[in-house]
Amino acid sequence: MLKPFEPTLPLPPQAPNWDENLRFAYSEVDAFWLTRWTSEAGWEPGRLYEHRGATLELSPAAAVLYYGEGVFEGLKAYRTRKGNIVLFRPQDNARRLRASAARLALPAPSVDMFLEAVTAVARANARWVPAPEKGSFYLRPVLIGSGAILGVAPAPEFLFYVFGCPVGLYMGGDRLIVLSSVHRAAPYGTGAAKAAGNYAGCLRPQKIAKEMGYVDVLYLDAREDRYIEELSGANFFAILYDGTVVTPALGSILPGITRDSILTIAREVFGWIAVERPLSLEEVLSDAVEAFYVGTAAVLSPVTVINHKGKDYPIGDGHPGPRSQMLRQALVEIQLQERPDLWGWVVEVA
Ligand code: COI
Repeated sequence: MLKPFEPTLPLPPQAPNWDENLRFAYSEVDAFWLTRWTSEAGWEPGRLYEHRGATLELSPAAAVLYYGEGVFEGLKAYRTRKGNIVLFRPQDNARRLRASAARLALPAPSVDMFLEAVTAVARANARWVPAPEKGSFYLRPVLIGSGAILGVAPAPEFLFYVFGCPVGLYMGGDRLIVLSSVHRAAPYGTGAAKAAGNYAGCLRPQKIAKEMGYVDVLYLDAREDRYIEELSGANFFAILYDGTVVTPALGSILPGITRDSILTIAREVFGWIAVERPLSLEEVLSDAVEAFYVGTAAVLSPVTVINHKGKDYPIGDGHPGPRSQMLRQALVEIQLQERPDLWGWVVEVA
């Protein structure tokens, strides 16, 4: 059931008491945004609905339910210390959603519609955007084939919606494992799209990793089982003993917006050499002095151990490294308008 969001009462400016230990977990807030696409009308004008108690009604034959015709995005709204609410690189999320949609034959919302939706959700839920030291407000734009279909074909109807909730740290662990014979994506497959099914395929390997005491799987390429790709939901970086920052080249991995930001910060803020190229596991285990993973949810988290074939390999001295910490701090300061944003990444919405 969907009820239009019409805040009749003045909402208290502060949301109900914060859980002091915000986790990366779903919760319902005040409003979410939704629009529908039909072949007759295209995208309808979108609008806000009540988030609390909201459910979507779908046909049992909705394409997303069994053909997995769904793509999504993740971006964050931050409250700055001045009290403004800002988004980080939302145009890039809009463009990536359009690229993912094209790969899965979904009609893509325009960049303007995407920006209208994420801005509306951030503003309507302003009282849920945590203070900077507490966390951030995660926005999840979702595009699905909602129409009923039986044969393998694009759905006849689509939904695009954006919900959000306050979040804290994602994962937080620093030990990764390479699992033999498990790959995330094949060459020319859907690995570069933010397709729902890419994440479904990671669930069992991730469960195994956690049972073994590792926070996530570090996937290798499907062609040679040699080159690092990424984690289940984050991109990987290594800093080699000569100071070069290296991240796997694009192809079958997600073109992460945080990944691109870290490359840019490494080059343009610190003047380091930062390259995208094939990066073998062997090279990381022998030459890396620091490693870390990045993503909107993960921000930047150090990797201190990689397990391969039953052996734990420490990265560098087995502790988080100073340059990873410098990159993380610069990224967070730019996101919170505490360091010059030389690239126009930060967009004020309230
Ligand atoms: C993000 O970092 O925003 C993602 O979408 C990754 C997801 C696994 C939480």
